[in-house]
Amino acid sequence: MRSLVILISGRGSNMQALLEANLPVDKITVISNNPEASGLGIARQHGIDTIVIDHRSYPDRETFDAALAERIDACQPKLIALAGFMRILSENFVLRYEGRLMNVHPSLLPAFTGLNTHARALQEGIKIHGCTVHFVTPKLDHGPIVIQAAIPILPDDTKKTLAARVLQQEHHIYPQAIRWFMQHQLSLSNNCVVIRGTSINDVVLHSPGLQE
Ligand code: GAR
Repeated sequence: MRSLVILISGRGSNMQALLEANLPVDKITVISNNPEASGLGIARQHGIDTIVIDHRSYPDRETFDAALAERIDACQPKLIALAGFMRILSENFVLRYEGRLMNVHPSLLPAFTGLNTHARALQEGIKIHGCTVHFVTPKLDHGPIVIQAAIPILPDDTKKTLAARVLQQEHHIYPQAIRWFMQHQLSLSNNCVVIRGTSINDVVLHSPGLQE
């Protein structure tokens, strides 16, 4: 059975994009560390089983991660997708699911790991920003990259407008990455992800545009 577990902490818009993407999976379970996560309601509306494991009920990261792993293993997932899951996972946890733990991050990694990516992008004055889907490794926001989407930063962008345009792209690339995974199109070579059966759009994004 192709089972997918999605971990969320909040709004759950990436989770919703995954639930609505008609992915080639037999079962989806959503787990949240936050009982107040609004994504839980969205999952239930989609008829998806939800589980809450409140991290505040555990004395430390290791015991929370162990409880999380126990519930995940009961689902026997082929893949675990972090979708706005805002807890740092212990090395033991990450290594247990090596090669089947994915994350979506709101920047073009390896730039802007961590939090507040859009504000930092604006602060640095970069002209092209975006998002990344990658496999998770113990080093935060550093695993092998599956797919990225790039967008120009517009002159009037605020962190809010930029976040919204990046989020739209997250909703495109995350379902695609998981579809490839489920269809066995992904493999690793020298720590780089190779994707069978895809082509590369050889276009250049200039930001701002070139002028004669
Ligand atoms: C998304 O932008 C996701 O990339 C980001 O949190 C947001 C969650 O939104 N994740 C991280 O920053 C993880 N490092 P969502 O709950 O609406 O999917």
